[in-house]
Amino acid sequence: MKTIAVLTSGGDAPGMNACIRAVVRTACEKGMNIYGINRGYNGLMEDDMFEMDLRTVSDIIDRGGTVLHSARSLNFKTEEGMQAAIETCQRRGIEGIVVIGGDGSFRGARDLSLRGIPCIGVPGTIDNDIACTDYTIGFDTCLNTIMQTVDRVRDTSESHDRCTVVEVMGRSAGYLALEGGIAVGATYIIVPEKPYDLADVIARMKKTLKTGKRHFVIVVAEGIGGVANLAKRIEEETGVECRSTILGHIQRGGSPTVRDRVMASIMGNKAVKLLMDGIGNRVIAVKDDKIVDYDIFEALQMKKSLNDEYYQIAHEISI
Ligand code: F6P
Repeated sequence: MKTIAVLTSGGDAPGMNACIRAVVRTACEKGMNIYGINRGYNGLMEDDMFEMDLRTVSDIIDRGGTVLHSARSLNFKTEEGMQAAIETCQRRGIEGIVVIGGDGSFRGARDLSLRGIPCIGVPGTIDNDIACTDYTIGFDTCLNTIMQTVDRVRDTSESHDRCTVVEVMGRSAGYLALEGGIAVGATYIIVPEKPYDLADVIARMKKTLKTGKRHFVIVVAEGIGGVANLAKRIEEETGVECRSTILGHIQRGGSPTVRDRVMASIMGNKAVKLLMDGIGNRVIAVKDDKIVDYDIFEALQMKKSLNDEYYQIAHEISI
């Protein structure tokens, strides 16, 4: 393979730039030409791209977001969109693409691979909700942001003897809520994967009040939502003044952590090496602390579940 391209797709995640850098540097080192495609699959369909070299990725390893910009492209799912993307590849002589993103982006990569453009998916999303991998680029930075911001919320909760109900991102998954909740010592963690009973939340708070604790943090995954109403109910039932906070997009930004930079760099390098060997239609993944790769079709069939043990322990130590 002589010419490849890289794009970022779906919600941006800290560490995507470190991955782009690794992809570009590896391609250059192996003597390949590399295009950076702007705005995900939109840029591919619209031929919006530029040639990258060693210096175009200087000083981006520490930057959040993605220098290539990102998008969720509905048009790419249509036959016309796919056709336009293939024509761009033919015109530019692009023989393979590294796609950094989530499951939706991998479906696009699978479809392109089926049409003769080998693609390698690299998992990039703060949600860590990609079934084939234990870890996704951006998850660690996001968890650290959640920890730092909720620590601040706890300061004021403590001063006012309040309960704060905090909503964290994660789409329909509770990975951020679970690990973020453990990291901030939440009294209760509410995730879509586990049924919850308001009566149990109330009972736990009342029991804890008896031990002398006066302030609480409850972490709720966005897949549950309704934090304002939840806060109101908790206040009514416990008599503890309650506030609710939605952390929102603050969770998606910021300079990536060491873990995100390192994993993004290793995965980006591996993706290019697969393409160089003429291998496409694969997803890079982390399994049991090892970097592996799976067939995209298989990867998209896999299932992932919340860590039950972590969930159990979180409840055991939160009182
Ligand atoms: O997938 C990342 C994510 O931040 C989710 O946690 C959240 O549900 C969604 O993207 C928000 O999307 P948008 O930035 O389009 O509002």
